[in-house]
Amino acid sequence: MSTLSHWTAVLLLTCLLLAAPVKTAEAGGFAAIDRHRHRSRSLAAVKNTTWWKPKRYNKDGTFPRFQYQLSDEGTIKYVSGVQVYVIDLDTALSAIPKLKSKNAAVRIVCYFSAGSWEDYRVQADRQFRGVRPSDWGAALGKDMDGWPGERWVDVRSSKVRTILRRRIAWAKKIGCHGVDPDNVNGHDADTGFPLTKANLVAFNKWLASTAHGFGLGIGLKNGLDMIRQLHTLFDWAVNESCNVYEECDLYDTFAATKPIWGIEYCDANEVFGVHTMDPACFCPRMMKKGFNFLYKAVNLTAQGIDCARYCAANKQKCAQGAAVTGSCKSRTNNLCSVVRGRFP
Ligand SMILES: *[C@@H]1O[C@H](CO)[C@@H](O)[C@H](O)[C@H]1NC(C)=O
Ligand SMILES: *[C@@H]1O[C@H](CO)[C@@H](O)[C@H](O)[C@H]1NC(C)=O
Ligand SMILES: *[C@@H]1O[C@H](CO)[C@@H](O)[C@H](O)[C@H]1NC(C)=O
Repeated sequence: MSTLSHWTAVLLLTCLLLAAPVKTAEAGGFAAIDRHRHRSRSLAAVKNTTWWKPKRYNKDGTFPRFQYQLSDEGTIKYVSGVQVYVIDLDTALSAIPKLKSKNAAVRIVCYFSAGSWEDYRVQADRQFRGVRPSDWGAALGKDMDGWPGERWVDVRSSKVRTILRRRIAWAKKIGCHGVDPDNVNGHDADTGFPLTKANLVAFNKWLASTAHGFGLGIGLKNGLDMIRQLHTLFDWAVNESCNVYEECDLYDTFAATKPIWGIEYCDANEVFGVHTMDPACFCPRMMKKGFNFLYKAVNLTAQGIDCARYCAANKQKCAQGAAVTGSCKSRTNNLCSVVRGRFP
């Protein structure tokens, strides 16, 4: 250990010991993070160079089992054998100790919206991350289509980055291993700002280096047209519905080295008006491509199944499904009975 890194370690330890213990989201919050940052000013330039980088496969060649649960009133269900949980940053404070107490090896990815402001976050967010419209001022843009109470923000604004930096610091502080920032493709939407693809590429690069600086992994969600510029900087990608849109191949560059986690929806037709896929139809394809996919309802409760377990239990269906193409598209009914009471 060099003298420099020795002192870094000592400083880091001191800073950790001095940092105020967090009791609740309300008690911790902005103030705690600001205190922490103030005391560690001399460390400001010291960025972490290591962070969690999930692997595509386990040593035995199976997929790491992952769960993607953003709802169910904040009750995160522990599922034996699940290795990675993607959960909402708001539920993480109470969920992380519970999940870790059951299995210290679990890895937790914390979801938050990076490109929008959500008015329903008021309670949970109050102290630590820009919940009042006035926190964002002129950086608050148009309503997000289809998501009441949600507005785009101007990702070029330093105000936005200050808020997000605190959010990421908070994620680190409460024990997330990685972050899953959503709505990072404002250039594709009517945000109220003249956002270009270059603006969004820059924003995503900033998000990745900020997360990494805190020692957190980061996933790319949406923003497929930026994959070429971003795939080296992100640690995994999350996709929804690429089978429905027949565009999963766009991830091939990314998937050469990093995990692709995806979800197809059993109520896609009902909610989005696109066709609903039968897991027997897309799972064989995803298994073959090495993409780790779940089948879930759009409300993203704990219930769902992963393709690996589905195909292990339905060998014949999956074998047939591998050959099916056209009929995959015709479903308009709700297939959620497949996932009822089941977990990945
Ligand atoms: C770097 O990571 C360590 C351990 O993961 C953490 O305690 C520390 O706060 C991080 N440093 C910064 C600058 O985020
Ligand atoms: C998933 O891929 C589809 C293309 O098939 C794309 O339209 C969609 O935005 C992607 N979703 C996410 C969350 O990355
Ligand atoms: C989520 O959606 C599924 C499928 O439509 C439904 O069966 C379930 O009751 C919903 N759960 C909640 C908590 O909304």
